[in-house]
Amino acid sequence: MNLPSVDMLSGIQPTGRLHLGNYLGAVREWVKIQENENLFVCLVDYHALTAAPLPDSLRAQTRSLLVDLLACGLDPEESVLFCQSDLPEHIELFWILSCVARFGEMARMTQFKDKGGGTDTESVGLGVLNYPVLQAADILLYGPNKVPVGEDQAQHLELTRELLRRFNKRYTPLFQEVRAHIPQVGKVLSLNQPSRKMSKSDPTGCVFIDEEAESLLKKVKRAVTDSGQGALSPGVLNLLGILASFNAEEGKKAHKEAEGGQLRYGDLKVAVAGVLEDALSGIREEKRAWLNRPDRVEEILQEGAKAARRIAQPRLAAIRDVVGLKGYPR
Ligand code: TRP
Repeated sequence: MNLPSVDMLSGIQPTGRLHLGNYLGAVREWVKIQENENLFVCLVDYHALTAAPLPDSLRAQTRSLLVDLLACGLDPEESVLFCQSDLPEHIELFWILSCVARFGEMARMTQFKDKGGGTDTESVGLGVLNYPVLQAADILLYGPNKVPVGEDQAQHLELTRELLRRFNKRYTPLFQEVRAHIPQVGKVLSLNQPSRKMSKSDPTGCVFIDEEAESLLKKVKRAVTDSGQGALSPGVLNLLGILASFNAEEGKKAHKEAEGGQLRYGDLKVAVAGVLEDALSGIREEKRAWLNRPDRVEEILQEGAKAARRIAQPRLAAIRDVVGLKGYPR
């Protein structure tokens, strides 16, 4: 069957300001990809409901996420940026796929266990259990070959692959194979608790993509660099990783010096703050400009939804047909 499809699709939750971890783990990669490939980026507000946000803040965060993405360089002329809940088709396919998924495999997902499913099945939300099925629906509704995501999403991609194969076997081979595309940067860790990944819930250890110069410098200067004996500490490795992800050569050189014990951590911090300020000052400026164009932001979402429907609707119609939903007499 010849269904419309896209080259690449990814998704991101509207849960707050973008930070360096989101940027290096995914968004910067999307900005590169959009030059050569047909890229769809879905703002997954249905997914965000799993955390029960206040209604007005969810609505506002969907817009501000789009503004952040535009500021980072996603270009609505190059890629399709759309909001998940503009297409209830996602929910219909979610249901169909939840009849393909099994309770056991869902209950084993790492994220579900981390969010309470491991110990507290009485009160963990059903949406948390179902989350990866909705993600599989986001993907299979567009049929991308590749899904560019951070490495924390690898397991969800494996589940999508499992569900699509099971679907194809049970019904008709409708879905093409899909793979995760994971950028080569390591995890970005919190600056002040380098045992954890960078997260907005720990703002002193988190560099936001619109971080002002002054607080950026403060956060980097306060970064934890204590070393265990001998080997480089996670905090130092994190700073070296950040440096390398903006300037590979400088990062490599600093790494060598650090291993040889010749690198002063004060100097490393100055270098990291420098590359960050270079990268973020432009993003800050772009963000300011986009904040002055709320009408254009709405228009981008409307255009995105239209482009998404052109792919999603015919695909869903075919899926409905294949599984035997009522349809029309033939
Ligand atoms: N679960 C993803 C995350 O937290 C977001 C997501 C939802 C997604 N649907 C998707 C990513 C579809 C890729 C494709 O980062």
